[in-house]
Amino acid sequence: MEEVKLKIADMIKSAINDEIALEDILSKIEVPKDKKNGDFAYPCFNLSKLLKKSPVDIANDIKENIKLDNNIKEIQVVNGYLNFYVNDTDISKKVLTNIFNMKEKYGFQNIGKGQNVCVDYSSPNIAKPFHLGHFRTTIIGRAISNLYKELGYNTISINYLGDWGRQFGLVIEGYKRFKDEYDISNDPLHSLADMYVRANKLAKEDEEVMNMARENFKKLEDGNEEYLKLWKYFRDVSLKEYYKLYDLLNCKFDSYNGEAYYNDKMQEVIDILDKKGVLVESRGAKVVMLGENEPPCIIVTSIGSTIYATRDLAAILDRTRQYDYVKSIYVTSYEQINHFKQVFEVAKYIVDEKYAKGLVHVPYGMVRLKTGKMSTREGTVIYLQDLLNDAIKKADNILVEKNNKIHDRENIAKQIGIGALVFNDLKTSKIKDVVFDLDEILRFDGETGPYIQYTYVRTISILKKAGFNEKNIDINSIDFSMLNTEDEVELIKKLDSFSDVIKRAANEYEPSILARYLIDVASLFSRFYNNSQVITNDINLKNVRCLLVYATSIVIKKGLAILGIDTPNEM
Ligand code: ARG
Repeated sequence: MEEVKLKIADMIKSAINDEIALEDILSKIEVPKDKKNGDFAYPCFNLSKLLKKSPVDIANDIKENIKLDNNIKEIQVVNGYLNFYVNDTDISKKVLTNIFNMKEKYGFQNIGKGQNVCVDYSSPNIAKPFHLGHFRTTIIGRAISNLYKELGYNTISINYLGDWGRQFGLVIEGYKRFKDEYDISNDPLHSLADMYVRANKLAKEDEEVMNMARENFKKLEDGNEEYLKLWKYFRDVSLKEYYKLYDLLNCKFDSYNGEAYYNDKMQEVIDILDKKGVLVESRGAKVVMLGENEPPCIIVTSIGSTIYATRDLAAILDRTRQYDYVKSIYVTSYEQINHFKQVFEVAKYIVDEKYAKGLVHVPYGMVRLKTGKMSTREGTVIYLQDLLNDAIKKADNILVEKNNKIHDRENIAKQIGIGALVFNDLKTSKIKDVVFDLDEILRFDGETGPYIQYTYVRTISILKKAGFNEKNIDINSIDFSMLNTEDEVELIKKLDSFSDVIKRAANEYEPSILARYLIDVASLFSRFYNNSQVITNDINLKNVRCLLVYATSIVIKKGLAILGIDTPNEM
């Protein structure tokens, strides 16, 4: 439809016969909400002054001067608007031929060719089990990375592990005190987290314990061998657990350089800030002053240690050198909005303007389960592993109930269970808090992942039943004029907007735009399928309708893949 829009702009321009830029016309062309008003509309109001005529007269003049071709079947003038009705057969032919030729490459655009985009996401804090908050950054970050890939960018997925900082003084203290009470090798992360919680509690009650923890971290920073060995052990067991989850979620990273990696790379940041004269003393700490009503950004604390922000600044500098990025995106919960605001502000002193401008924080809202039943002893945190297991098990129960002849049940239950959680996470605007109910998100109808997956399974089983084989299709012999019901035409136009949806979702860092689009595709498909017979005796009608089903299957599969969701072959 983009092509047709351009053609319409061109037609208008030559009809006006005036010095109006094509881009100007293009930007004013609208897509009417109500299909009755055409596929495109052009308002003539703003031309009134220039052409010294009423909008209605202008619209009529333009209409007179346009010669219809096979793209446009009709033009109407309504209250100063020109409404264009495109030729549906022409659109159907273009869209379905394009999808048929491109197959799984459909939607790909070369906008970002040769340019790098960093996406910093997931980034859990080691020595703690993976919880639901980190699931969100993992899922949203991956989807954003995939969206940029689809726009032709080279994306770098960075897992900036939280593997350094004062809390490790407490983890070490807890380990030293309580390790004999735990069966660590059996469940290292829960054991370590528990020891940390206990040490934290002790430290709050007893200043002496807090001092020991401080000392532990100081020793760690100074390279004490015993402590470094412990830290390395914490990191190794954590990663081992995380890898299991990433495997299950099919998530891959290009870099695991986390906070510890920047431990020896912060001095350069401090030196640059110092040289620029922006590092000032404030209550014993070294800080950079920001806007008038904003708190300063601490770079070195009064006891001489660096903080989270200092490490992030070192990472920015490093990423400009390693990746020469055009964009560097950070996905975290909205609790870190102020952190990134400060860090990005200070980064302006450290890196070239183009790099500072490319920094983007993408905040998201919290997730909560409707029933707190899966929370841990404390009753607050939900661990991802438990949730995934539960979802997969429930999906399996549903499968057994619905279709006990399924071949690869174990695998499909995984695809559905995980797909349901991922889709649920991506379908609402990311800043909103998400409260959900496992039974609800696993339903095969409604706005759920399984519903979209199920629609895909329907498409391929229809094609199978129809004996459709893409290799035997001669696209030139297809009669596209047979796709003339409103259901068909609307579905085709929806499929056509796929590239546009990808572009918008990437530009707005909002995978929910794609998720909602897939809901629309699935429901338009259901409407079409309920109202029209695909497998009919009329072989021409059958062929063209099968082609539409095939195109739908490609778009759903590809769209789900971008969101990080698998498509089962049976359900
Ligand atoms: N580890 C942090 C957390 O769990 C998230 C890190 C985000 N990335 C960054 N470059 N600061 O809250």
